[in-house]
Amino acid sequence: MIKMKVVLLFLFLVVLPINGDTDPSDASALRVMYQGLNSPGQLTKWTSNGGDPCGDNWKGVKCSGSRVKEINLSGVGLSGGNLGYQLQSLTSLTNFDISNNNLGNQIPYNLPPNLQTLNFAGCGFSGNLPYSISLMASLKYLNVAHNQLSGQLQDMFQKLPSLSTLDLSFNSLTGNLPQSFSLLSSATDMYLQNNQFTGAIDVLADLPLKNLNVANNKFSGWVPSQLKNINLQKDGNSWNSGSAPPPPPGAPATRRPRSPSTSDGGKKSGVSGGAIAGIVISVLVVGAVIAFFLLKRKSRKSSHTDIEKMEDQPFASLASQPQELKSVQAFEIPPAINLKPPPMERHKSFSDDDDDVSAKPVVPKKTSVAPTNVISYSIPDLQIATDSFSADNLIGEGSIGRVFRAQFEDGKVVAVKKIKSSAVGGGEDFIDIVSDISRLRHPNVTQLIGYCCEHGQRLLVYEFLKNGSLYDFLHLSDEYSSKPLLTWNNRVKIALGAARALEYLHEVCSPSVIHKSINSANILLDSELNPRLSDCGLASLVEDADQELDNSAPEVSMSGLYTIKSDVYGFGVTMLELLTGRKPFDSSRTRSEQSLVRWATPQLHDIDALAKMVDPALKGLYPVKSLSRFADVIALCVQPEPEFRPPMSEVVEALVRLVQRTNMSKRTVGNDTLKGEP
Ligand SMILES: *[C@@H]1O[C@H](CO)[C@@H](O)[C@H](O)[C@H]1NC(C)=O
Repeated sequence: MIKMKVVLLFLFLVVLPINGDTDPSDASALRVMYQGLNSPGQLTKWTSNGGDPCGDNWKGVKCSGSRVKEINLSGVGLSGGNLGYQLQSLTSLTNFDISNNNLGNQIPYNLPPNLQTLNFAGCGFSGNLPYSISLMASLKYLNVAHNQLSGQLQDMFQKLPSLSTLDLSFNSLTGNLPQSFSLLSSATDMYLQNNQFTGAIDVLADLPLKNLNVANNKFSGWVPSQLKNINLQKDGNSWNSGSAPPPPPGAPATRRPRSPSTSDGGKKSGVSGGAIAGIVISVLVVGAVIAFFLLKRKSRKSSHTDIEKMEDQPFASLASQPQELKSVQAFEIPPAINLKPPPMERHKSFSDDDDDVSAKPVVPKKTSVAPTNVISYSIPDLQIATDSFSADNLIGEGSIGRVFRAQFEDGKVVAVKKIKSSAVGGGEDFIDIVSDISRLRHPNVTQLIGYCCEHGQRLLVYEFLKNGSLYDFLHLSDEYSSKPLLTWNNRVKIALGAARALEYLHEVCSPSVIHKSINSANILLDSELNPRLSDCGLASLVEDADQELDNSAPEVSMSGLYTIKSDVYGFGVTMLELLTGRKPFDSSRTRSEQSLVRWATPQLHDIDALAKMVDPALKGLYPVKSLSRFADVIALCVQPEPEFRPPMSEVVEALVRLVQRTNMSKRTVGNDTLKGEP
């Protein structure tokens, strides 16, 4: 009885005040924000522990009912820190104004989804606009003026029909204006001045603009006649002085080909190039799953298609890019390892067009309905194609079964994975798995073509990837065969592609797909060394006991607990293989060097040690800075505490940044397959 009273008292004292009038997840997001901002004293009433934002009148917070409607911390003297990782749960927030504070860092990628007003002006933000902004259907006012944003704008303005004011002025944005600007059908005020935009401004011609400032950029071409009667500031550009070509009557100006005589403005922007490449690419497979376990070494499969080239994509990141890798760690660390980042669809930057921006694979409820978008093969089909699964056609063997090369009568070559009978339950389970895998579609995920489920046999048919696995490439080829192709830039490209695949599984697929077996044997390479992650969605087929532990995160080895963070660890180990050329575990080495992680991680921040660790096959041909940034990413991923490992989106951003910087110092990635650069 006394105990009961104590409990009740406790509830009154502690539990009630925590939530009070405020929706618990709103309150939590604000507490986390306060903490992220280093608990600044000027935010009166705020606390990172308990408190009631709505009931207690937290400074700058306005509520409607129990939901937080407005946060206005404009000019309150915030300095450093971040806005926390729970912003996306502020689903009732319509006004968000933190302008004129010295925050620095990047704009957080997980912004509240239903904003009408977003004012981040004068916050010292670098990087680019996060993709979450492109999904804010209610957004009317967007102001990111007076920051240090750089790079090209992504083509991400398709779905902002209410946006009336867009202020990007006083940043360092480059490239042509994205085509989707032409779809900003409510835009009345646009401030683009004092950036480094190039090309023509034709995309703005048909907008209902009243005020337009494009001064002090590198625009060229002609000012569309439609814009001549509005309040227009256009000085400080290199406009064409000839007479403007009349727009074809009735034709929307935005569809006009770019003016032919623009100087640098006529260059195709990376964005539209990427968009086109994206359209070409966006023919891939399927859905999402979860599961258990892995396949392993030597599954080879592969490619009959050509795949996009990552490095041709616009890299101006859609999301916040960690300025310094160090800061990734201090930034946005979820409290629970399973916290799922918002579904971001950032990969859409290269695979979308407008129509399928929101098409995201969703794992349906259990159906056991035969998947329709893959081919159902018969046993005789596959027997003929593999010469009765002959040893000659055996190309790999993993823990869930063997992989055979198969060639059909029409010449098409595929990889057939013959799943061990012990690895799968009833036929219905298998069909569910096939159905889920068949929905996974990403340029860096191996594509399922078909399956066979007859006479108790279970087979999966994949595209065939000519170059086999990264493991084989790194560890089984010699100096004279294929290893020279693994230049530094190709290694970075492989890491980035694999990171994007994993980002897709973790953060785009819903629910998240845990791969459970991220290792170099599951990263296959196409003819251009573009990586494809294999065995996605197959985790449930393998018993935990079958797993090899070389790449396993410490918590997996200890407790068998798999999370997306254990995948991140496996990814870090794979990057370490790329850097050192060593196997995760190599019993032929001296004891202290057998475990790659144990040997390498203490040295990752030491430039001299790094130079000694790097794969000798690179023959010293790598940019030192790039190497050390690569090592920084690894160090984050292989941290023993899962909660400190970054989400894959941050890994992708860090690698994109690394590539951008490498490119900036005049190199290209992806084309120089035969030579690295010192
Ligand atoms: C935030 O407050 C400032 C003044 O403190 C005001 O000028 C600004 O309009 C407010 N922002 C919003 C979105 O209401």
